[in-house]
Amino acid sequence: MADARPVGVFDSGVGGLSVLRALRAELPSEHFLYVADQANVPYGPHPLEKVRGLAEGITRYLLRRGAKAIVVACNTASAAALHYLRETFPDTPFVGMEPAVKPAAETTRSGVVGVLATPATFQGKLYASVVERFARGTRLLEHTCPGLVQEIEAGRLTGETARAILTAALRPMLAEGVDTVVLGCTHYPFAIPLIQEIVGGNVRVIDPAPAVARQTRRVLAAREALNAPEAPGSVTFYTTGGDTAATAAVMGRLWGEPVEVLRLQWRGERLGEGND
Ligand code: DGL
Repeated sequence: MADARPVGVFDSGVGGLSVLRALRAELPSEHFLYVADQANVPYGPHPLEKVRGLAEGITRYLLRRGAKAIVVACNTASAAALHYLRETFPDTPFVGMEPAVKPAAETTRSGVVGVLATPATFQGKLYASVVERFARGTRLLEHTCPGLVQEIEAGRLTGETARAILTAALRPMLAEGVDTVVLGCTHYPFAIPLIQEIVGGNVRVIDPAPAVARQTRRVLAAREALNAPEAPGSVTFYTTGGDTAATAAVMGRLWGEPVEVLRLQWRGERLGEGND
């Protein structure tokens, strides 16, 4: 039986669109609700408890909207809240992000891998467990790229500031022999052209989004919760930020076509529409 209920997807801002575009390609018949929590972006420097509360508020909103599954399209929110969300909402399937250390460790030839992620992601137990399980014998060089999320939020993907941040992160990694770079923040795939320009063609840059999209398909299929294959899917974009026009301009650019963006508002810990 076809299940036309939507799939909820969220991030602190526009970064999760890098996951959403892979989800759209993998699951073109699904209806997606995308929430950018721009009232609280960036999540990376916040304490994990704060990010957990925000993730819970967004999840409750998406469940009120009938979401049949939720993709936490944010490494930071996954690090802070994935375990908690699965415990708190046991009937809802969650798909989260974790830095792609496993495929990097499996394919690196130099044995040196760079990981770019936010401070909160590096502090979380999820990252520690990924490193413990998969990084054996691989040297991981970590960098938080301070300020890069804000540059991408502003749509400045190739500006001087982004270039300076990434050069400072990647040059020392190259000097140590890195041959693989893991993008452990969903904003960063939008900077791949710049990253690839800095590291050169011989370094592999891993965007985990396609793997996350395939995992989402498996999760929905296992629950017989896929929509009818012939159904036309859709995406509805929301922001908690105050300037929907500015958000629409940046999102449209990243998405590759004009988008309409609707406003959501936090009232304490509850997220809702104007009259919700
Ligand atoms: N896109 C996010 C991530 O994957 C969050 C970045 C931020 O808000 O700091 O970690």
